[in-house]
Amino acid sequence: MNILLLGNGGREHALAWKIKQSYHCDNLFIAPGNPGTAECGTNVMLDILDFESIKQFSIDNKISIVVVGPEEPLVKGIYDYLTNSEWNGFVVGPSKEAAQLEGSKAFSKKFMQRHQIPTAAYAEFTKDNFEDGKQYIQQHSLPIVLKADGLAAGKGVVIAATHEEALQVFEEMIINKQFGDASSKVVIEQFLPGIEVSVFVLTNGKDYQIIGHAKDYKRIGEGDTGLNTGGMGCVTPVPFMNDAFMHEVEETIIKPTVNGLYKEELIYNGFIFFGLINVEGKPFVIEYNCRMGDPETEVVMPRLYTDIVGLFAAMDNGTLEDVNIAYNDGCFATVMAVSGGYPGSYEKNKVITIPPLSEGSGEAIVFHAGTKQDEAGNIVTNGGRVLAVTSQGNTLTAAVNQSKKILEQISFEGMYYRRDIGYEFSKLI
Ligand code: AMP
Ligand code: GLY
Repeated sequence: MNILLLGNGGREHALAWKIKQSYHCDNLFIAPGNPGTAECGTNVMLDILDFESIKQFSIDNKISIVVVGPEEPLVKGIYDYLTNSEWNGFVVGPSKEAAQLEGSKAFSKKFMQRHQIPTAAYAEFTKDNFEDGKQYIQQHSLPIVLKADGLAAGKGVVIAATHEEALQVFEEMIINKQFGDASSKVVIEQFLPGIEVSVFVLTNGKDYQIIGHAKDYKRIGEGDTGLNTGGMGCVTPVPFMNDAFMHEVEETIIKPTVNGLYKEELIYNGFIFFGLINVEGKPFVIEYNCRMGDPETEVVMPRLYTDIVGLFAAMDNGTLEDVNIAYNDGCFATVMAVSGGYPGSYEKNKVITIPPLSEGSGEAIVFHAGTKQDEAGNIVTNGGRVLAVTSQGNTLTAAVNQSKKILEQISFEGMYYRRDIGYEFSKLI
C-alpha cells in the first residue's frame, strides 16, 4: 500500500525508516520531509496544514494511510477533515476532539479527574477569576507549576520557585497574553518530584498496544541544567520500567485512559504519548500528547521489532489486540546534535559533514531533524535540533558511547551535544 507521512523532524525520519521496512509498504511519501526522509521515500512539498492539498494528493497517489507526525494538524482537525472527505483511506491520529488531550491542558486534567487517573492536583484560571488565582498561588506549596492551557511550542510550562515568580508568570500569561489565546486559561498544579519517562501506545480507541517507552533528557546542559529543549537525547529500555512498574502504569493509567476514550466516544486511531513521572515507585501523568515523541521515536522505532504498518492495519480492521509486540534485544540510545545557541536564537545554513560510518559503528543510524539540502547540494542545518544519532549496545552506556563516538566524526559550526545522556542509569547497568 502507499503511505503518506506528515512532518519533517527526527521523529519523522525514524518513522519513515521504520515504515519503509514493512513489506506492506509499496510507496512512502513524506511531506515535507528532510534529506534523511528522502533516503526512505519520496519527499513532497505539501504544507501539513493545507488539508485540502493533502486530501487531493492522497486521492491522486492512491494513499491508503496518512500518518500524522506532529500535533498541530491533529489539534486543528486533520483527522476529521480527511476522514469525512471523498478520500477512502485511514488516518493515524486522533479526532480533533480527542486531540485536546494534548491541545488543552485543562481538558486533559478534567479527563484524568473523571477517570481517576493519577496526576498532580490542580486548578484552572482565566482573567474572569484572576484574583482567585492570585490567592490560590499565594497559598500554594513551592515550587508551583504553571501551564498555559493551549499549544505554546513547548514553552508553555513554568516551574516557579517562589510565589513572586509564580504571580509574575501568571500575570504574564493571562493579562499580557504571553502565548496569545493559548494562555487565556492557565492550569496551576502541584509539583511532582521524580524521574520522567515517556510511554507510547497505539490505540483505536478501544484496544491498545504498548509499542515502547523511553527516558528523554530535556535540559540543554549536562546534569539536567539550563533551559528546557525539545529533547537532547533518549535511552530505552529504562531500568525502572520493570514488570511491576509497567503493570502499575497499565492498570492505573493506560487502561483507564483508553476506557475513558471509549466511554466518552472520543474517536482515537493513533499514538498516545503518556508523559509520566515516577514518584517513589508510583506513576503519575504529567501530560498526554497525541503523537510520538521527538527524540523518543528515534529509539522506540529501532527497538520495536513488530511491523509498524501491520500495527496500523490491525488498528483499522479491529485486530489490534491480536498483534504480538516484540522488541529487539539490547539497549538503545540517541544523542541529539544541536545548533550553537539553541534553545535560544541560533544560526542556520551551517554545512554539516557526515562521514560514512566507520567499521565498528554497529547498527548506528544518523536521523536527520533540522537539516536541508542547499542549492549547492550540501546538507546544511535548518533548525535547533539538527541530527539524532541512535545506537544499539549491550548496555545503555555502550549505546550512548557508540553514539558519542559517531558524533565525534560529525561536524558543523557551533555543534553541541550532551555527553551525559543516560547518566543516572550508568551505575545500574
Ligand atoms: P509538559 O509540557 O506538561 O510536558 O511540561 C514540561 C515539563 O515540565 C515536563 O516534562 C516536566 O519536566 C515538567 N513538569 C510539568 N508538570 C510538572 C509537575 N506537575 N511536576 C513536576 N514537573 C512537571
Ligand atoms: N521529547 C518530548 C516531546 O516530544 O514532546
